[in-house]
Amino acid sequence: MSARHKLAGAALVFAAGVLLAACSDTLPQSSLNPAGERAEQVDSLFRLVFWIAVGVFVLVEGALVYALIRFRQRRADDPNPVQVHGNTRLEIIWTIIPALLLLGIAIPTIRTTFDLSEHPTGEGVVAVIVTASQWWWEVEYPDLGVVTANEIHVPVGSPVTVELHSKDVIHSFWVPRLAGKQDVVPGRTISLDFVAAAPGVFPGQCAEYCGLSHANMRFIVVAEEPEDFDQWVADQRAPAVAAPPGTENAEGEELFRSVGCVACHTVAGLEGAQGILGPDLTHFGGRTTFAGSTFEINVANLTRWLRNPLAMKPGSRMPSYNLTDDQIEALIAYLMSLE
Ligand code: CUA
Repeated sequence: MSARHKLAGAALVFAAGVLLAACSDTLPQSSLNPAGERAEQVDSLFRLVFWIAVGVFVLVEGALVYALIRFRQRRADDPNPVQVHGNTRLEIIWTIIPALLLLGIAIPTIRTTFDLSEHPTGEGVVAVIVTASQWWWEVEYPDLGVVTANEIHVPVGSPVTVELHSKDVIHSFWVPRLAGKQDVVPGRTISLDFVAAAPGVFPGQCAEYCGLSHANMRFIVVAEEPEDFDQWVADQRAPAVAAPPGTENAEGEELFRSVGCVACHTVAGLEGAQGILGPDLTHFGGRTTFAGSTFEINVANLTRWLRNPLAMKPGSRMPSYNLTDDQIEALIAYLMSLE
């Protein structure tokens, strides 16, 4: 084997490995591992179409490979194989079979599509309004009086309807393990629903290219037992607790106002903090992630963020304020106290 062939072989094995790695059903984002009824419906439709496609692929490619081998020219003086022009019976067969296959795919597809567009209503349905903007998600529970960002808490076993809006461009809401993908189009109200069958944290992301930080537009769905969800709602409804005077938190609270954070962010209960351009931070310390759910909330990440947001999230509207290390420390202490 020449060095060139070995290299090509190694490249092929590597590429196949990378491709096949995407087929794992244990990855957090894998839609092959549904965690609720809606995702299961999408999954079973996918599997049906997939196996039909595999059958077609094997048959067609098998016939092609067979013809290549059976009718190849072995010697220079081999005659051409018999040439055939038209075969009515064959042509009827290979028209009817694909038509039946398409029908077999169309019926369950249309049924699932219509079924998914029917949203549950009435008692026990948790209504959530999700508003997408470059590059984060606002999450509002209109019936519960809760507003948060990038983290959607839901009770296990209850149907959740998500009403989707966009403030700027087309985004796409996608939690692979819970529901199908849904484009979010400015000027239109589009809904989707799902049920989480068991507690867990389900990663989601924007699935429509929407600009510089499209890849940093993620979110999580936190499915929890109904009593935990009720507790979360109660915590979220409470206004932020004012920082005790004389503490580092109070210094941070003052900076939050004086530096200008309040122009874009709301902290319910803090006078003057009613900005709506950025995420509501009333219970920021109770979340696990920030900046479009891209970074874990911890002192190191928040320090980097407040020093230079654009270095972490290109295109972010969050400005850099040239804060001193002490100011950053105080702001972080305050933000993390907002539980
Ligand atoms: Cu929003 Cu991609």
